[in-house]
Amino acid sequence: MTTAEQGLLDTFGRRAVDLRVSLTDRCNLRCTYCMPEEGMQWLAKDTLLTDDEIVRLVGIAVRELGIREVRFTGGEPLLRPGLVGIVARCAELTPRPELSLTTNGIGLARTASALKAAGLDRINVSLDTLDRETFRTLSRRDRQGDVMAGLAAAEAAGLLPVKLNAVLMRGVNDHEAPDLLAWSLERGYELRFIEQMPLDAQHGWVRTNMITAEEILERLSARFTLTPEPSAARGAAPAERWLVDGGPGRVGVIASVTRPFCRACDRTRLTADGQVRNCLFATEETDLRGALRAGGADTDIAELWRKAMWGKKAAAGTDAPAGIEAPAFHQPARPMSAIGG
Ligand code: 5AD
Ligand code: SF4
Repeated sequence: MTTAEQGLLDTFGRRAVDLRVSLTDRCNLRCTYCMPEEGMQWLAKDTLLTDDEIVRLVGIAVRELGIREVRFTGGEPLLRPGLVGIVARCAELTPRPELSLTTNGIGLARTASALKAAGLDRINVSLDTLDRETFRTLSRRDRQGDVMAGLAAAEAAGLLPVKLNAVLMRGVNDHEAPDLLAWSLERGYELRFIEQMPLDAQHGWVRTNMITAEEILERLSARFTLTPEPSAARGAAPAERWLVDGGPGRVGVIASVTRPFCRACDRTRLTADGQVRNCLFATEETDLRGALRAGGADTDIAELWRKAMWGKKAAAGTDAPAGIEAPAFHQPARPMSAIGG
């Protein structure tokens, strides 16, 4: 067996083939489910991986560890000046990984075609509301116009199908679920709703404010007929999908809280400051930046990464299958913006 075939295994028989790389912890929005209005502590500049360091680590992941898909996240990855170059260099790796990006869409109008030309395969844009005022309340910035322009540019650049992520919050945008779906279907965008997770920097998540997958489906069923896609189609994908009004349009729901999919998880994460996390909710990290800057060889770094993944817990950083809903669950100290979505 080659080392890449051995891959990033854990004690539950899972194998990570999907790498999420956070390129910055900074953002130009302040979504309430993610960040407080003020007072975020940003990572110190000298702790951030350089573009070269990122490309080297992705190369090790692809060549030595069997990673097949690389998703760039943040914070807001479009704020990283070297993004297009990083994408281009990752597209030159052998074997060539699938490359995708999760973004809030601001700035995409300017960069979508360059990203496509650099080799980006797919894109996910966050869009929680169609209403400009609600967008401003929810993200604390009046930038909905930029997001809409970014979506149009992604489509024009051929970053297809454009995928949308929406988080619903009680009393804020939960009434918009059917409108968001109708709007997405009209444009051929693939919409996925994500249950709000306890990953906000201010630790303000409250179970009762979360709109559950069941509630989302109930709201959508008021206007659409949903038929479940066969579960075989799901694989390691966290979204459960439904055909809308007989198809071909679809909608996804990511029930991270009420129906965790940890048993099929195939992800590993690299933070902007070079720490490997074996789970969004892990309480421990493995320092690859230190190893890299101490002159570690590719094989040493690959070995550290393998060890980090071997220690992955059963569900959401706990030993309990219930994950986030388990009594043993603890919100990680680092927020999602520093971990990568
Ligand atoms: N719960 C669920 N989804 C979240 N996102 C950010 N914070 C949370 C949270 N606490 C979403 C963003 C984006 C993706 C990276 O994750 O809206 O679409
Ligand atoms: Fe920025 Fe995304 Fe967090 Fe919103 S959810 S503040 S867009 S990182």
